[in-house]
Amino acid sequence: MTTIEFQAAVFRAPNTPLTVETVSIPATPPPGEVLVRLKASGLCHSDLHVIVGEWDGIPTPTILGHEGAGVVEAVGDGVADLDVGDHVVLTWTPSCGRCRYCVSGRPVLCDKAAEHSANHVSFDGGTRVTSADGESVHSFAGLGTFGEYAMLPRSAAVAVDRTAPFEQSALVGCAVTTGIGAVVNTAAVRPTDTVLVIGCGGVGLNAVQGARLVGSRRIIAADISDQKLEQARAFGAHEVINTTTEDLGERIAQITDGRGVEVAVEAIGLPQTIEAAYGVLARGGRAIVAGQVADGVRVSIDPFVMSDQELSLVGSNYGSSRPDIDFPILVDHYLHRRIDLDSLVTGVIGLDEINDGFEEMKHGKGIRTVVAY
Ligand SMILES: NC(=O)c1ccc[n+]([C@@H]2O[C@H](COP(=O)([O-])OP(=O)(O)OC[C@H]3O[C@@H](n4cnc5c(N)ncnc54)[C@H](O)[C@@H]3O)[C@@H](O)[C@H]2O)c1
Ligand SMILES: [Zn+2]
Ligand SMILES: [Zn+2]
Repeated sequence: MTTIEFQAAVFRAPNTPLTVETVSIPATPPPGEVLVRLKASGLCHSDLHVIVGEWDGIPTPTILGHEGAGVVEAVGDGVADLDVGDHVVLTWTPSCGRCRYCVSGRPVLCDKAAEHSANHVSFDGGTRVTSADGESVHSFAGLGTFGEYAMLPRSAAVAVDRTAPFEQSALVGCAVTTGIGAVVNTAAVRPTDTVLVIGCGGVGLNAVQGARLVGSRRIIAADISDQKLEQARAFGAHEVINTTTEDLGERIAQITDGRGVEVAVEAIGLPQTIEAAYGVLARGGRAIVAGQVADGVRVSIDPFVMSDQELSLVGSNYGSSRPDIDFPILVDHYLHRRIDLDSLVTGVIGLDEINDGFEEMKHGKGIRTVVAY
């Protein structure tokens, strides 16, 4: 069997740097799979949750990374609708197309994705990458985009316009779809809604521009960093709140004449900010939890108020997206300047600089750092 050797950033233990190692992958995909040559991969806070040990149960060794774009290098038997040379954005919820979630239009909840991609293996339960010492190497979310090659179920690769630059389109593979989708799909924001976004990182800024895309009447952004809030203004926020110096509840009351917001998106993953998002809702409002918390975290809400005021606390996985439909449309929105992906890319690095990229994320620097291959 011919194999391809490549460099990958491998997670071997929490709170230790990723190791950039030579690994190998078969050159020929099995039936129903595709081999993708990655061109770009974003660094997402979900990878950082793993690196700092906030999420248990991640097998080792694992190639991290789940926000990628590249070119189809080879297709396996039975793959009739994707060609070598197609430009693709990868989805970390590949779907089977047949389970009750897929057929009801909710592919991000697919049985196969929940069983396999969520456990960092392929649809047959196996791995595809081998270390120099012959170990099986897992691929994060079934993708493992911190390496130049990835073998994926056909449905994990979504073809997009070939004129889109890879660094920008890679971000559609997580932050853009998650943030815009939380507003457009999960919350189904209408132009009459006031939207609050708490946390203005890669996901939150996209929630802000999602609210702008659908014409939300008032967009409010909250963060602890003035720099992030400045960026939020550029992405469409009308009002910004620095919660280290201002009281969120008071400012929201002031901005909304005491009513509260119809939609609040939490894009950090902290119990206090999830409770804060829920706490500033107008009657009938919905709080969307896009941020992902460390293992074991709980939040507390008042269920009497919930029923009395018809409040909703809703989880949003991957922006409740349908990647086959949403990825090409989001890339199209970018190419037609309806959304901004250029300003999201605040750093382009080589794979060998990846640990520095995560250090910067820990300190809240930049929006998205992208590895270019
Ligand atoms: N639901 C999903 O499908 C999904 C997908 C991708 C990422 N995520 C999660 O979304 C979260 C955000 O990811 P990201 O890549 O945008 O992270 P990021 O590190 O880029 O951004 C986090 C932002 O939150 C701000 N922040 C931190 N603490 C705060 C506080 N107490 N109050 C206000 N603001 C605060 C930071 O200044 C920063 O701007 C993570 O938990 C990530 O795991 C969820
Ligand atoms: Zn992500
Ligand atoms: Zn399915």
